[in-house]
Amino acid sequence: MKHIIISGGKKLQGEFEISGSKNATLPILSATLLSDKKVQLKNVPDLLDTKSMLHLLKSLGVIVDKKLFKEKKVLNLNAHKITSLNAKYELVRKMRASFLVLGPLLTRMGKAKVSLPGGCAIGTRPVNLHLQAMRKLGASIYIEDGYVTAKSPRNGLVGNHIIFSNISVGATENAIMAAVLAKGETKISNAAREPEITDLCNFLLSLGARIEGAGTKTISIQGVSNLGSTSYSILFDRIEACTYIVAGAITNSNVVINLPNSNSDHLKSFLLVMKKMGLNFKVIGNKVKVFKGQILSPIKVKTEEYPGFPTDMQAQLMTLMCLSRGTSEITENIFENRFMHVPELNRLGADIKINGNRAVIEGNRKLIGAEVMATDLRASVSLILAGLVAKGDTKINRIYHLDRGYENIDKKLSKCGAKIIRGFTDE
Ligand code: EPZ
Repeated sequence: MKHIIISGGKKLQGEFEISGSKNATLPILSATLLSDKKVQLKNVPDLLDTKSMLHLLKSLGVIVDKKLFKEKKVLNLNAHKITSLNAKYELVRKMRASFLVLGPLLTRMGKAKVSLPGGCAIGTRPVNLHLQAMRKLGASIYIEDGYVTAKSPRNGLVGNHIIFSNISVGATENAIMAAVLAKGETKISNAAREPEITDLCNFLLSLGARIEGAGTKTISIQGVSNLGSTSYSILFDRIEACTYIVAGAITNSNVVINLPNSNSDHLKSFLLVMKKMGLNFKVIGNKVKVFKGQILSPIKVKTEEYPGFPTDMQAQLMTLMCLSRGTSEITENIFENRFMHVPELNRLGADIKINGNRAVIEGNRKLIGAEVMATDLRASVSLILAGLVAKGDTKINRIYHLDRGYENIDKKLSKCGAKIIRGFTDE
């Protein structure tokens, strides 16, 4: 079992380079199924989740050229010939975002058979909203042996008005991708507004799709008969950027976070919380500069859909709250079980109590290094952040969770002064 050992107490300094967004990369890779022409993607993060999605696309017949990937983060893909309509369980179970191939396969090929993703550490993760959107576009859907089989009408999907009862990032993405090749106009109401959805729409527009309202609650799509070729650069990862801002804050260091193709607006709700806690930072162009020298105040935060405080930063903020000078609270409104990091943080000397979807975090804690277990992607990184300030060594097991969503996190932290090494323990 792979692990990471961090020796706490080191100050950080220097610059963090931010990679392409995992949560933009995964829907955009799915969307390459929509075109039968060559597609080039740039600024693609080298993550386990990227590899899983490429594995799935290849199983469907997509030609993937990774020659330029290692050094230049460039992928060349060609979905000219789809050879399978079946996204198999052994691939989908590893990564829930695999379910995003449903919309593209269905609208381009008229049929798709995709394994239900099943639940994960943070919740049951249903897909009812995805299926509701496909039905609204005319698809017939049935579920058998853990697979969703979707068929479009003989002449293909037909545009319609999709009204989501709840906001869902993935369901919005599947609906947009299915509507792009449907006949006529589709209107999506109560759409998710995450920047990654806007990035998906910008990618689709570069292929020749006709989309208006990306990033707002109401998105309109005029179906087209086919899509072209493009070379597209993926948006930077706002959650990675916020994570390194917390790394600077929690170690009371001077660090700089570089945001390529920057839009610090995407960090607004997070930076507002940092400001309220008293963090000393400045946004200068495409850089966020964090300065040492302040004791942070406690705060009450609730996670919300974008543009609210992101659930993907909840675990990282919780670690920071342990060092603030008072009692803080976090209410998790998006996922029903996203407190798996709490017992692990408490093993490190935190004092966090859970009451339903609310966590109460005592501040002024002195964290002490120990052996802990990563349970999901963002929980793992909250343990890394704790390890940076805990006294002595912290050993974090099962770090494949970490490598799913953070590119070279140990190298990026070591480069800025952290003492962090990877190891391997026979299970
Ligand atoms: C995306 O997941 C992200 N993943 C998640 O990031 C992120 O936490 C989440 O959006 C919320 O922002 C990717 O983009 C690959 P949802 P997604 O559908 O699309 C319920 C990370 O750490 N729901 O917006 O799966 C669902 O159970 C990951 O990078 C339904 O009830 O999230 C949840 O409670 C974790 N029915 C809520 O909606 C559905 O059909 C939000 O889920 C779909 C979702």
